[in-house]
Amino acid sequence: MKPFLVAPEEAVENLRKSRYRVGVFGFGHVGLTIGVGWGLAGAKVIGMTLDKQAIRLLESGLSPFPEEAYLSKYIENLRTRGLLEVTDDYSYGARETDIKIIAVPVYLSSEKKPDLTPIIRVSEEIGRSLIKGDVVIIETSIPPGTTRNVVRPILEEKSGLKADEDFALAYSPERISAGTVLADYLEKYPKIIGCDSPGSLNLVAKLYSAVVKTGVIKMSSTVAAETEKLFEGVYRDVNIALANELALLCEKMGVAYDEVRAAANSQPFSHLHKPGIGVGGACIPVYPYFIIETALNQGVQLQITQLARSINEKATELFIEKIVKAVHFLNIDPSKCRFALLGLSFRGGTSDTRLSPALRILEFIEKTGAEVKVCDPLVEKVEGKDIEILRDWRKAAQGADAIVIASDHKEFYQIEIEEASSLAGRETAILDGKNVISNLNGKPRYRVLYVGVGRPAYLLEPDGSKKKVEL
Ligand SMILES: NC(=O)c1ccc[n+]([C@@H]2O[C@H](COP(=O)([O-])OP(=O)(O)OC[C@H]3O[C@@H](n4cnc5c(N)ncnc54)[C@H](O)[C@@H]3O)[C@@H](O)[C@H]2O)c1
Repeated sequence: MKPFLVAPEEAVENLRKSRYRVGVFGFGHVGLTIGVGWGLAGAKVIGMTLDKQAIRLLESGLSPFPEEAYLSKYIENLRTRGLLEVTDDYSYGARETDIKIIAVPVYLSSEKKPDLTPIIRVSEEIGRSLIKGDVVIIETSIPPGTTRNVVRPILEEKSGLKADEDFALAYSPERISAGTVLADYLEKYPKIIGCDSPGSLNLVAKLYSAVVKTGVIKMSSTVAAETEKLFEGVYRDVNIALANELALLCEKMGVAYDEVRAAANSQPFSHLHKPGIGVGGACIPVYPYFIIETALNQGVQLQITQLARSINEKATELFIEKIVKAVHFLNIDPSKCRFALLGLSFRGGTSDTRLSPALRILEFIEKTGAEVKVCDPLVEKVEGKDIEILRDWRKAAQGADAIVIASDHKEFYQIEIEEASSLAGRETAILDGKNVISNLNGKPRYRVLYVGVGRPAYLLEPDGSKKKVEL
């Protein structure tokens, strides 16, 4: 019997005994994690993706994401047990499943408005095959009210059924981070669940309690759960903006922000974040716009949220200005500079380049016509670019006039000024956008101009002397 037609305890039993099929609509970073999680709980999972290369890899039992390579053993295990099928046929997945989980993205338009097209298309597909007793759960981060005002009417109209009476409907945000997705999903954070009826809430909370080990937090409505997820992102964005602003001041004062931050955070009410060169990824730079849009529709202006966004967007441009100043400082024409760009992903430990500040920096370097060697230990290709991506930073640093560090991959924390200088074989600028270099006291073979974020810039001489400089 379908899950919404039996007691929640019986539905859980059926899930564990592989009597339910779970369709995951969108099988990317989030969808694959969900699929593996529900498969491990006993469900028969059908993952749907438009990515043909990912389907080929998954069918060979491999994770399509290098930073999530450990998932391969679970994928292989679930496939061997007949618990994981992958397809690009969304209508097949809609027809064949009892529990439907939506994990397609929401994009931002050029006017920074949410583009719900993927969610609308998938809801229509699900609605056409929805059967009494089914369960629909949305996990994509969406503007508040989307479940109730967009997805629900589509499902009801296409199926002729009533949400919360004929089928269960829930919103449950995803809280994973690239590199640790499965542990985040199953073991790290409680699962937030919001529904607009006690019937849907009791069932979906029980099902999730059988999937995750961290327990669930029941929310009073889908809107409250949607809002919770976006507030997590806004909190991060605003605090990063604050760090960027204070770091800029530290640079001007010749004080190290890192040192001040560590001391300030020894007090329990201070949670100063790290500064950076812009915020990337599919989440944090996007969610504030969902909230800003929602607030405007309510006649509320979110001044701090808006200001934070503009500070963080400007952070990449400020770093590019530093690159230009550093190159001029060494008396090199930017168009003749030999650049090494270390890191393409939006942060360390991931191959994800969505909205990555590193791509904006690469674009700038390419525009100058300068030569650039690019290194990233995880990124295999950049959409629309035909560039060679070196794995070892040392190869990229050879003969470089300027070494630009744009992602904090663990390999880059090994970079020593002396080795970088020897590899460059000339006077060099090191632009450390992630402050991965901590020791500035060595004796480089050639003069090095070191520029970090929220730190004074230094000229480091071969005799070991070091002096602060203004760019
Ligand atoms: N990546 C994260 O760490 C993360 C964390 C929390 C929340 N989220 C949320 O999850 C959403 C999905 O993120 P992701 O990282 O899994 O994205 P992704 O790009 O890795 O995967 C998206 C999946 O959806 C499919 N898809 C895209 N457009 C589609 C369409 N129009 N119709 C059908 N399928 C389509 C893709 O083929 C792919 O399988 C994000 O938009 C965000 O709201 C992501």
